[in-house]
Amino acid sequence: MKKDIWTLNDIPDLSGKIFVVTGANSGIGFEATKAFAMKNAKVIMGCRNNDKAQIAKNKILSEYKDADLDIILLDLMDFDSIKSFANEIISKYPKIDVLLNNAGIMTVPYGSTKNGLEKQIGVNHFGHYYLTMSLLDLINKTENSRIVNIASIAHRYGRLNPNNFLYSENKKYRKSLAYAQSKLANLLFTYGLQTRLEEKKSKIKVLAAHPGVTKTNLGRHLKTLSIKPISWSFDLFNQKPPQGALPGIRACTDLSVSNGEYYEPDGFYSIKGNPVVGKSNKRSHSKDLQDTLWEHSVKITKLDITI
Ligand SMILES: NC(=O)c1ccc[n+]([C@@H]2O[C@H](COP(=O)([O-])OP(=O)(O)OC[C@H]3O[C@@H](n4cnc5c(N)ncnc54)[C@H](OP(=O)(O)O)[C@@H]3O)[C@@H](O)[C@H]2O)c1
Repeated sequence: MKKDIWTLNDIPDLSGKIFVVTGANSGIGFEATKAFAMKNAKVIMGCRNNDKAQIAKNKILSEYKDADLDIILLDLMDFDSIKSFANEIISKYPKIDVLLNNAGIMTVPYGSTKNGLEKQIGVNHFGHYYLTMSLLDLINKTENSRIVNIASIAHRYGRLNPNNFLYSENKKYRKSLAYAQSKLANLLFTYGLQTRLEEKKSKIKVLAAHPGVTKTNLGRHLKTLSIKPISWSFDLFNQKPPQGALPGIRACTDLSVSNGEYYEPDGFYSIKGNPVVGKSNKRSHSKDLQDTLWEHSVKITKLDITI
């Protein structure tokens, strides 16, 4: 029986473990990196901006002087950057215990990645798909390894629209719905990957987490948050990043997790609370949608499972 209250004190000792965290310099990724390092893991910080990454690293070192952190530059908007990030990890490290696919962008104005994908699905899903496939062999060779995808309750509003995946006809772009689609994709990818790995008898566990509503830099494109009364009331009900990071941290480290679980806060509408196993919606469990997303991911990245 899992405890309802789970805190940083419940993280087991992580000595000897190697974690990879995308978007490690800010918000949820920063807190997760700090927690793993505090418990003696080596953490590879995948960040797109070296200055921000150094500041984040120094901040953690000022609290935990023995933190073992390695910054490697990673831009999830660019498959070449992802490939060189993965290659550097593969050449430097003998294993990966946990890959935390955390980096994300939300409600950004329309734009495209270096590979011609709409930015939100490009970074949040296709970039992480590319990264996961590039590191899969090494993760698979590591005993008791995990892949954890940070999704969102926003998946409930997401519809997968492969006919206009890339919003090549920009007119139909709705930034909130594009974010919701990308977060639904995080879950379809989680469960689709779990099924495929099980078929290949791989022991990798694949999980997902929703951080609740957490005050980070994610909302920088939400115009409503620049209106003072809305921003103040938002401050009243959201959680702080150390709490928001807990569902993902639990999915990465709790020894009692099961394959395919989805962690989220246990409070009203999963806004805040203790990190517990939750339920993502029916659409995220649709095999048809999982297969459709997989086919498109293979076509776009030219990568598939080869273990
Ligand atoms: N905060 C919430 O309430 C909430 C709720 C549900 C889900 N989430 C999810 O939680 C995850 C983390 O978000 P957060 O709230 O911690 O936001 P955040 O503070 O904005 O952090 C996002 C991180 O992703 C990085 N990133 C963005 N684009 C990237 C790219 N192209 N390549 C590499 N890294 C990139 C950012 O780097 P820069 O600092 O350089 O921009 C930053 O490190 C996201 O997946 C988000 O969807 C958050």
